[in-house]
Amino acid sequence: MNDQELINQYLERTNQPPKVFEALKQIGYFDAPASKGHHLAVAGGLVEHSMHVTNILLAMKLFTEESCHRIGMYHDLVKCLCYKAVAGGGFEYVQPPHPGHGVASALIAADIGIELMPHERAAIVWHMGAFCLDDRQMAEYRAALKQWPDAIVLTHAADHLASLTEE
Ligand SMILES: [Fe+2]
Ligand SMILES: [Fe+2]
Repeated sequence: MNDQELINQYLERTNQPPKVFEALKQIGYFDAPASKGHHLAVAGGLVEHSMHVTNILLAMKLFTEESCHRIGMYHDLVKCLCYKAVAGGGFEYVQPPHPGHGVASALIAADIGIELMPHERAAIVWHMGAFCLDDRQMAEYRAALKQWPDAIVLTHAADHLASLTEE
């Protein structure tokens, strides 16, 4: 199995209509890096990072396989819009027209027709945990934790763990 076949397999397990895969291509999902200069700052880095997060969620055995794939593969969709390749290599940050990081990813998912269960959407929205939240956002975060504690805390942990192991 080549890399693209493996990636396709992960995406197929998110159980979305074919138009979603076409839209992912169009927004640059397969070419985006996972970061500007930290982890997997190379084209294709976003997909690799997303597969790592999916694998960690699967290993926890707490969510359905479909949920693990949806959360893992789509939690960082904002990275399709916020890193622009620059001549000579590397990427520069471009501000997308959405608030936040997790919220932006959930909005982009909705824009391209990805269907998510409420806990999957919450896991994506709050995958940065309590990092850099102001008082109002902290209150929103606590309210979300009351409804979807496992999905939010464990997705944050999976994301953090994946990025620590990525060069
Ligand atoms: Fe992220
Ligand atoms: Fe991530």
